[in-house]
Amino acid sequence: MKIFVINGPNLNMLGVREPDHYGKETYSDLVEKIKSHCESKNIEVELFQSNHEGALVDEIQRAYGKADGIVINPGAYTHTSIALLDALKAVNIPAVEVHISKVEEREDFRQISYVRLACKKTITGKGTDGYLEAIGFLSKDK
Ligand code: DQA
Repeated sequence: MKIFVINGPNLNMLGVREPDHYGKETYSDLVEKIKSHCESKNIEVELFQSNHEGALVDEIQRAYGKADGIVINPGAYTHTSIALLDALKAVNIPAVEVHISKVEEREDFRQISYVRLACKKTITGKGTDGYLEAIGFLSKDK
């Protein structure tokens, strides 16, 4: 079982950016948390973060033939990117959308998610634990 965890723009600023929404854990803390969780569950994991839409498309495409599941937090590209939606549809790998904050209780422009159309599940408002829940969902689904 191999899972790709893909994070979009500004998630490298975790711990610094808007802690009221995103908490105090840093991106490195998140990476360590996911790696040790996956190690304990015998799941192979690859983590990737980029601030660039095309790089995120490339990473989704790289998962083709390699990953059994994708956990994706596309950051603000959630609300704008048809390219990420199309990439997820193209590779057709079971995917879960994760948001650290409770997007449904935030601004109107955060209520649209294009990637959701290609995801089996959406997890919001659970902080970084949402990533572990997504990994659990994908590994049970297998
Ligand atoms: C986010 C929510 C998005 O609306 C925002 O642009 C982010 C982070 C979240 O994890 O809650 O960058 O995806």
